[in-house]
Amino acid sequence: MLKTTISPIFSSFTGKPKCSSKLFFRAFSKVVLQDTPPSARRNASTNLTTLHKGPPTSAYVHLPFCRKRCHYCDFPILALGMSSSSARPSNVYEEGKEDDPRITNYVNLLVREIKATRTDFDTNPNLETVFFGGGTPSLVPPKLVSLILETLSLNFGLSPDAEISMEMDPGTFDGQKLKDLMKLGVNRVSLGVQAFQDELLKACGRAHGVSQVYEAIEFVKECGVENWSMDLISSLPHQTLEMWEESLRLAIESQPNHVSVYDLQVEQGTKFGNLYTPGQSPLPSETQSAEFYKTASSMLRGAGYEHYEVSSYSRDGFKCKHNLIYWKNKPFYAFGLGSASYVGGLRFSRPRRLKEYTNYVADLENGAANWCGNGDVDLKDVATDILMLSFRTSKGLELKEFGEAFGSEVVKSICKVYEPYVESGHIVCLDDMRSEVMIDEFKTLVANDEVKIEDHVRYLRLKDPDGFLLSNELISLSFGVVAP
Ligand SMILES: C[S@@+](CC[C@H](N)C(=O)[O-])C[C@H]1O[C@@H](n2cnc3c(N)ncnc32)[C@H](O)[C@@H]1O
Repeated sequence: MLKTTISPIFSSFTGKPKCSSKLFFRAFSKVVLQDTPPSARRNASTNLTTLHKGPPTSAYVHLPFCRKRCHYCDFPILALGMSSSSARPSNVYEEGKEDDPRITNYVNLLVREIKATRTDFDTNPNLETVFFGGGTPSLVPPKLVSLILETLSLNFGLSPDAEISMEMDPGTFDGQKLKDLMKLGVNRVSLGVQAFQDELLKACGRAHGVSQVYEAIEFVKECGVENWSMDLISSLPHQTLEMWEESLRLAIESQPNHVSVYDLQVEQGTKFGNLYTPGQSPLPSETQSAEFYKTASSMLRGAGYEHYEVSSYSRDGFKCKHNLIYWKNKPFYAFGLGSASYVGGLRFSRPRRLKEYTNYVADLENGAANWCGNGDVDLKDVATDILMLSFRTSKGLELKEFGEAFGSEVVKSICKVYEPYVESGHIVCLDDMRSEVMIDEFKTLVANDEVKIEDHVRYLRLKDPDGFLLSNELISLSFGVVAP
């Protein structure tokens, strides 16, 4: 599940995505925001049709069950306890065993929500990606996953070659369960490993150890799942650089085709939030966290992974199609507790508590609630979303498209604000062919009021790793232009 704000972005949303980098190198944020000429804001075009309108072809499905809550986690989850019939640590999958009624009841509610989502788009394209996030979706029995997929298929259509991802935790599935899930169409596994040291896993309150990580990797391989990803977390309490390098090395040796690396976010109200202060021992300092980030980037790129998004690395052909929908600011449905959809330019979050979510589904069925939010699309929100999401990717911000939507003067103002960072090498300017535009040329273009910058500079992107490390500050600077 991805999370809100410019700080956090994760694998899928409870709002907006969660960003892995903290506010590094505060000194840089002292650069004064240049004021956007009011005319630039007045001229912002409303030609946003191509940016967010149209029917979604992606769906996020939230399956909130976990055996227990991890100490860093603030997602909307329901802890079943280690002894739930669906959560036994050994013998994890027995065909025919009784399902936990909490899971069955929730899935029935979810199915009602999907059915009550009646769309009236001009066209009805099939879903091309489905992402089961959590929680720990691998705790859900395959026959219930099947029910959800059938309902999605009946309601929206499901492409035969859709990417269907599932977040899975070590110790919650075995080879048989994974095979059953694959028969239903699940073809991408996102494995929550987090660390390769038992002491760190224990300190995070994970319900599994390293031996179960290896077992899970074996199941994934033995079942022939090629498209699989591993999640790791850096900057954990007591984590040393040596431990982090070891986790990265063992991750690389396990040969996932995709790796997500998240910098620990210490969330209020979590156990870590109560115990620790970011930047203070036993958490690493900001400089150490930056070192962890750079180490991940250099080791993973050295092992042949492309760093295609702030927290995401993939081998050729294995970018996560579902997450790319988020980064491109394209629409997506969302179903389930606390999940947030993006349809018609509006983000809409479902209740995070089961009781309220249950009422919401009933209201949806009887027409007292709608499924995609009310109100007008706020252009500033769309612009800030586009800036936040595109600067997280290695592709960067597409200036021509942005200029067409919000006006050339806005593009010019963003470039002015970014000039010092182009000069310092934190931001890279690219032309149509993605060749670098040199700083002197960029400065000349910025200084010339007669010139439309986007005719010469097609993309602005953050440099890996130094620009990505400053992503929060840099993105905030462009927010200052579009939403002062
Ligand atoms: C929705 S969670 C996946 C849940 C899944 N049950 C698991 O624990 O593997 C997606 C990923 O977000 C990351 N994550 C969750 N909370 C985090 C936090 N507070 N800071 C950094 N990463 C976090 C973890 O790497 C996790 O695998």
